[in-house]
Amino acid sequence: MKWQLKRLNLALKRQLDNRTYKSSRRERRGRHDFFNTAFKALSFNGIDGDYAEFGSHGALTFSQAFHEAKRHKHTAQLWAFDSFQGLPAAAMEKDEHPKWVASEMATPLNEFHKLCQLRGIDKNRYHVVPGFFNESLPPLADTGEPRNICLAYIDCDLYTSTLDVLAFLQPRLKHGMIIAFDDYYCWSENQLSGERLAMLEVFSTDERWHLLPYTNIGWHGASFIVEDKSLLAT
Ligand SMILES: C[S@@+](CC[C@H](N)C(=O)[O-])C[C@H]1O[C@@H](n2cnc3c(N)ncnc32)[C@H](O)[C@@H]1O
Repeated sequence: MKWQLKRLNLALKRQLDNRTYKSSRRERRGRHDFFNTAFKALSFNGIDGDYAEFGSHGALTFSQAFHEAKRHKHTAQLWAFDSFQGLPAAAMEKDEHPKWVASEMATPLNEFHKLCQLRGIDKNRYHVVPGFFNESLPPLADTGEPRNICLAYIDCDLYTSTLDVLAFLQPRLKHGMIIAFDDYYCWSENQLSGERLAMLEVFSTDERWHLLPYTNIGWHGASFIVEDKSLLAT
């Protein structure tokens, strides 16, 4: 019976995996290394708070974050923010990239929960906020949830999506947290990386927070430590 259940789960996992974005083994390793480093550093340095992921699709990075947080005995709750309908259409030229296609990478919410279960994520350790960011994030301004974020993982590809996320994160920034951009080095022939552009626009004029370059994530991503500028002043 146990064996049959295992086979059923494997078949279901394969079926769901086939519908989610294909990343290479090396890319998975790059992300895994990042979560290992990040949660090691957060635990070692006593930075508490939750893991907030913007773009959760196939629960791959979500499960890596869960297992690395657990391994490093970090008590983070996990938050998945996603439309669960795939990428929105480009709203402007800054959103354009040959690989960002509207409606691609759609994982219906029930499948996302199944993937979380199959990937061993504790049900009581995570929360899901479905909807396009421009609609799902502003209502949370009232509740303030999640109140304390130690690691924000931005994997929503587009410039406008990243701007929505950074506006949401702005009042939640704190010294010592990490912000990661999965597509920081995904530029195109005539555009900068949308995630990088949004980050530069928001932080170049920020008087309070400095982003210290931290680790790369494979060939495609980069992460930063948020530093309180007042601590840098001599
Ligand atoms: C590359 S996938 C994320 C992959 C995921 N981290 C994983 O490991 O499977 C990008 C995700 O961002 C979501 N997304 C992009 N822009 C969004 C927006 N404005 N609102 C909500 N979700 C968005 C898409 O639905 C898609 O699931």
